[in-house]
Amino acid sequence: MLILGLESSCDETAAAVVKDGVHVVSNVISSQAETVHARYGGVVPELASRSHVIQALPVVQEALSIAKLTLNDLDAIAVTQGPGLVGALLVALQTAKSLSYSTGKPYIGVHHLEGHLSAIYLEDTSPPNPHMALIVSGGHTSLIKVKGTGDYQLLGATRDDAAGEAFDKVAKLLGLGYPGGIQIDKLAKEGDDTAFDFPKAMTKKSTGFDFSFSGLKTSALNKVKTLGMPKGQKLNDFCASFQKAVVEVLVRKTLEAAQKHNLQDIQICGGVAANSLLRKEMKSKCEEYGMRFYRPSPVFCTDNAAMIAAAGHRRLIRGESSTHTLPAKANLPLGTP
Ligand code: KG4
Ligand code: ZN
Repeated sequence: MLILGLESSCDETAAAVVKDGVHVVSNVISSQAETVHARYGGVVPELASRSHVIQALPVVQEALSIAKLTLNDLDAIAVTQGPGLVGALLVALQTAKSLSYSTGKPYIGVHHLEGHLSAIYLEDTSPPNPHMALIVSGGHTSLIKVKGTGDYQLLGATRDDAAGEAFDKVAKLLGLGYPGGIQIDKLAKEGDDTAFDFPKAMTKKSTGFDFSFSGLKTSALNKVKTLGMPKGQKLNDFCASFQKAVVEVLVRKTLEAAQKHNLQDIQICGGVAANSLLRKEMKSKCEEYGMRFYRPSPVFCTDNAAMIAAAGHRRLIRGESSTHTLPAKANLPLGTP
């Protein structure tokens, strides 16, 4: 079964062809981050929508051309329905509807986070259900018990900033540009993670499995105000200390949630799952606790359309598909509390 995946929820216009929900035949990602949004220090929604309009058909053509396929060879189309920037979402959704209408192929709208959860199926080994998933992206930080496709129990979420948002805001504060997570990750490799003392937010048992990163962000701001802008080695130390504080909370809460729910398999996904320290620490803690750890390749952690095709596949084989009246949804809940 050949599925064309489409994604435009934020600042990546992406198209991919995935076979049988697991084999990536082509994966094209056109990021606007550096070309359009970097100079503003964050995503400008209207500019994102306009860039998606320009990029949508070229990325589809490129994905098909790399796969050496035509539209007629496809079995179905999968597209992100939400959540995300509504003007941005509309572009891929409308493209999917038009392609579906003109070819007569079915299409399905997919939850963006179900896409992130499904990126792991593109790897050689994937977790059985039920398993624990930590979704960490620019817009979400959620702990989810995955019981099956579409059967999710939300155990905890951020009460303010998402983990990726905290990385991006602190990177902006440090003058590292947008998107900042990857820059902090890079500089942190050369830094001393004990040099600065950052608060470990929401680690008290009473806070359950929710997260909060705004205190960490304020602490970073206060440090810059009182100590001055870190430069050179101090900047590396600052990044390493900040990153350690974020990662420690993510790892601790995920492990606690897995233990409480008696789950032995843990996956991390979403853009921040590309973070080298999070991957390393989660792996080593899982080994220590006798749990199995799964993470997508970095290219499938950040936004891409292959994960959307993988998620769509699991729904389509159950006989599901969408009608042409499906709306784009800026807010779309995933799972029950
Ligand atoms: O999943 P994603 O591509 O988009 C959303 O659905 O939000 O995640 C983007 C987020 C950004 O905040 C970016 O800074 C962060 O993922 N990110 C990282 C790394 N790579 C991407 N954060 C920390 N370390 C990284 N290596
Ligand atoms: Zn995402």
